[in-house]
Amino acid sequence: MERSGQHPLRAVPPGQPQGDHLQLLLRRSREAKNCAYCPYSRFPVGAALLTAGGEIFSGCNVENACYSLGMCAERGAIQKAISEGHTSFKAMAIASDMGDDFITPCGACRQVMREFGTDWDVYLTKGDGTYIVKKLEELLPTSFGPEDLKKV
Ligand code: THU
Repeated sequence: MERSGQHPLRAVPPGQPQGDHLQLLLRRSREAKNCAYCPYSRFPVGAALLTAGGEIFSGCNVENACYSLGMCAERGAIQKAISEGHTSFKAMAIASDMGDDFITPCGACRQVMREFGTDWDVYLTKGDGTYIVKKLEELLPTSFGPEDLKKV
């Protein structure tokens, strides 16, 4: 589903942020992107994570001269939220400077997101503000998670 702006009659699945709340989440992901430290890739990314309680934690990619130590925006946002006591999430918005494509999280970030459930929404945005929304379950099907550890 690709959307730009709001249609007053559109159906929104329960639990998804709507209207101004969604716009704020999208804006916070763009603002976080402006803080990206990415002198090596020159590929800024921002993420904004909405908790079950309605708080937003943002993150940006933080690279390092030792390249492999770089951190993605999505995991940065999750680290911030978890370290402040939040473990239940409703949605994440992700922003990049790509004009023609929706930013999509890397496999490592998908697995870290999945740790906190498969039934929440990820808003993948384009530079022009349009977005598509995917459930974690769609981004990482047949995933391995904490529940699996209890099966042996
Ligand atoms: N990156 C993210 O932060 N999130 C994504 O969804 C894709 C990639 C970062 C990692 C690295 O700093 C730069 O973008 C290029 O891969």
